[in-house]
Amino acid sequence: MKHKIMCIVGARPNFTKIAPIMRAIKNHSSRLEGYLVHTGQHYDEAMKHSFFEQLGIPEPDVDLEVGSGSHAVQTAEVMKRFEPILDQENPSAVLVVGDVNSTIACALVAAKKQIPVIHVEAGLRSFDRTMPEEINRVLTDQISNLLFTTERSAHENLAREGIAEDKICFVGNVMIDTLLHNLTKAIPIEKTLAEVRDGEGFLQGEYGLVTMHRPANVDDETILTSLINSLVDVSKELPLIFPVHPRTKGQMEKFGLLHKLENENILVLPPLGYLHLLGLMKNAKLVLTDSGGIQEETTALGVPCITLRENTERPITITEGTNVIVGSDPKKIKAAFSDVMQTDGKAGRIPEYWDGKAAERIVEFLDKWIE
Ligand code: UD1
Repeated sequence: MKHKIMCIVGARPNFTKIAPIMRAIKNHSSRLEGYLVHTGQHYDEAMKHSFFEQLGIPEPDVDLEVGSGSHAVQTAEVMKRFEPILDQENPSAVLVVGDVNSTIACALVAAKKQIPVIHVEAGLRSFDRTMPEEINRVLTDQISNLLFTTERSAHENLAREGIAEDKICFVGNVMIDTLLHNLTKAIPIEKTLAEVRDGEGFLQGEYGLVTMHRPANVDDETILTSLINSLVDVSKELPLIFPVHPRTKGQMEKFGLLHKLENENILVLPPLGYLHLLGLMKNAKLVLTDSGGIQEETTALGVPCITLRENTERPITITEGTNVIVGSDPKKIKAAFSDVMQTDGKAGRIPEYWDGKAAERIVEFLDKWIE
C-alpha cells in the first residue's frame, strides 16, 4: 500500500514550490502517492491556472475555492473546508510549503487531528511580526513534525525556538528546483510583450523589472506614493516593466496613483505566468521587488535585486547572493539603483544545495521517514 502525502497549495508562491515535489513523488518514490489540495486562496486566471499549466502541476484532486477575505475569514474558511477532506482521505501526512495563510490553516487542522505535518521552507525568519507571513512561519514550524530547510540560518532559528534537531533536515530550495527545471522554457520578452500589450520601445536596450504587493508597501497611501515616485524617478534612467498584483492595482486605484505610471518609460502589465516572469527576470538589468521568492530567484540567476523591504527572512540572498535591502526610503532606493548602474551590483554565488535537487532529497528522506 502506498502512503498518501496530502500536498497543499493556495497562493501563487506555493505553486512553484509544490511542482517539483509532486514530480519527485511520482518519479522517485514507490512508497508515496501525492494528493493535491488547492485551497483557492488565489483564484484569478493570472494568479492560478497559467501556473498549473506552465509548471506541469497535476489538476488538484480538490479545490476548496476559499477566495479572498480578511486574514481571519480566509484562514477560517480554509480550515472549515479542509477538515472534511482530511477526514475523508486520511493521508499519512500533510505537506505544506512556504508561509501563506493556507499554509498555517491546513497545518493547524492536521496537527489537531494528529496527522503528521511536513513543512517545506521551514525556519525562515524576518523577526518582524507585523508581517502576516512571519506569524504563519513561526506557528507552522511549531506544529510541524518534520521541517525541511532551504538555508543553514533556518536551522539556527528553529533550534533557538526549541524545535528538536532530529525534526530538521537541510535539503535546499525547491523553488530553485523549479527555476532550473524551467530556465530553457522561459518565454522571451518579445513574445510576452506581443502577447500582453504593445511594448515595442522596451525591446531596445536594458530594463528593470518591478514587482510589489506587500501590505506594508501598498496599503499605506504615503508609502505607496513615495515608492511610485521612486519608480518614476528610476525610470528616467532605466525603462521599467511592472506586472501589477491585484492587491497593488486596487490600492493604486483607491489612492488615485495609476496616472503616475502612465509614463513612456514604465510598462504596466497584468500579473504574468511563471514562464513569462522568468523570461523577464533572467534578462533584466536589475529587479526591484518586495517579494520573498524573487529575492531567491534573482540570487540563483545572478541578477541584481533591490529589495523594497526593511528586512528579509532569506538572509543568504544578502550574504551570498545579489540582494540588497533598501526599504521604502527614496534615497536608499536611488543609491542602490545608481550602484547597480555603475558597478553592475554584487556578483554573488549560488547558495549550497540550490542545485535543482531539493525535491528529490525531500522525497528520498520521506520514503524512509514514513515507515
Ligand atoms: C498572498 C500571501 C503572500 C504572498 C502573495 C503572493 C498571505 C498572508 N499572503 O498575499 O505571502 O507573497 O500571496 O502573491 O497568505 N486577489 C485577486 N485575485 C486573486 C487573489 C487575490 O484579485 O486570485 C486580490 C483580492 O483583492 C485580495 C488581495 O488580492 O483581497 C490579496 O490576496 P490575498 O490572497 O489575501 O493575499 P496576497 O496579497 O495575494
